[in-house]
Amino acid sequence: MIEYRPLRIALLGAGSVGAEVARLLIENREELAARVGAELELVGIAVRDLKAKRPEGVPAELLTTDAETLILGADIVIEVMGGLEPARTCILQALNSGSDVITANKYLLATHGTELFDAAEQVGAQLYFEAAVAAAIPIIRPLRESLAGDKVTRIMGIVNGSTNYILDRMDSVGLSLEAAMAEATELGYLEADPTLDIEGYDAAQKVAILASLAFHTEVPLEKVYREGITKITPEQIRAAKDNGYVIKLLAICERVEEGVSARVYPALIPREHPLAAVRGAFNAVFVEAEAAGALMFYGSGAGGTQTASAVLGDLVSAAKRHVAGGPGLADSVHAELDVLPIDRVNTRFQITLEAKDQPGVLASIAATFAEQGVSVETVEQSINPRKTATLMVGTHEATEASLQSVVSALAASDAVESITSVIRVEGV
Ligand code: NDP
Ligand code: HSE
Repeated sequence: MIEYRPLRIALLGAGSVGAEVARLLIENREELAARVGAELELVGIAVRDLKAKRPEGVPAELLTTDAETLILGADIVIEVMGGLEPARTCILQALNSGSDVITANKYLLATHGTELFDAAEQVGAQLYFEAAVAAAIPIIRPLRESLAGDKVTRIMGIVNGSTNYILDRMDSVGLSLEAAMAEATELGYLEADPTLDIEGYDAAQKVAILASLAFHTEVPLEKVYREGITKITPEQIRAAKDNGYVIKLLAICERVEEGVSARVYPALIPREHPLAAVRGAFNAVFVEAEAAGALMFYGSGAGGTQTASAVLGDLVSAAKRHVAGGPGLADSVHAELDVLPIDRVNTRFQITLEAKDQPGVLASIAATFAEQGVSVETVEQSINPRKTATLMVGTHEATEASLQSVVSALAASDAVESITSVIRVEGV
């Protein structure tokens, strides 16, 4: 029996995600009330344009452009507007008036997370954000709760669906970057500003959130190293395939002796690695923790309905807390670890170059690696139609700084005609 008063839910945004939140909230009203122990009453939906066409599940009578009044009359506020402002101001208003808030806004959290969490803590409110990373995939709650007693050592994920789709199409059917991007645009996978996806900004926002939770340390967005996929060539994709690798845009954060590293870049991974099997626009996050070992989370990382699933999961948690009371979750940033710049990060590299096919060339190239303290693991040589030798050199782990020194020295070497590819190797 439901004895608690109805909880007033304010929804900010009725776009791809908001419209699905509204539909599911209304369609599943009875079931949700039974789970929570209180009716969840959608009292209003803030939008920009009252005249815009909405899907059927969005009741026109609930739409308003007055977000502030809506927020002040709510018990729980769901922010799915996106962007920094007015989302930030709206969330602060809601928290300061004691409401719990649910957001899917990775950009806002990665940029102003500390301010928002501090505001929540001051008034004893909660900020939930399961949908902000990898949408439907439960990854925030596992890090915040299930693994809270363990020590996460590394997270490596594919957290941007559109770039995974683009790389997958380049790999599986040999499309050019431009053609694969055109397909992704047609399918609606890319953000309104595609740079956010293809230059790795979206993935960087997500890894900043994951790293902060995993390592109990504030990891600001500007300290996340970022490279996108725009320089990946069909030749690199083909060479990767021929050599048993696939190129993925990886979001990585790890705990190392001197601190933590958070970074996004395209890298080779072996075709037998679990992340290599993540095709199309899917996402997956591979977590390594000291006691738990390796864990993999896989599923839809985007889409209105999928993202709404994560938002509603948070809504049930927030509503239950309302009904039963209690402090809720508090994230700890007690560790205050240093966030390392990329040049202090250790990775393996694969360097492909065209060299003169002459005596002593191989020895001179090997010496260049040795002089910079970079240990070579594999060398493959083939002679190409231009009668130069194509050398593919795989290194053991080396710092980015030493790799950059190797690349500069090779570029200046008389033995080397051109460097055609420098790419990191992960997951070996
Ligand atoms: P949309 O652009 O589809 O929708 C945004 C909604 O917010 C629209 O209804 C818009 O109103 C409303 N809105 C925007 N600005 C204002 C404002 N100033 N005042 C009132 N309403 C406003 O975004 P999505 O639904 O795709 O994304 C929402 C959030 O979810 C973002 O933070 C996004 O990063 C995140 N997210 C999205 C995923 C996805 O697959 N789409 C996946 C995971 C997270 P109007 O309709 O009138 O223009
Ligand atoms: N643009 C994002 C992606 C949407 O491609 O994954 C989900 O955050």
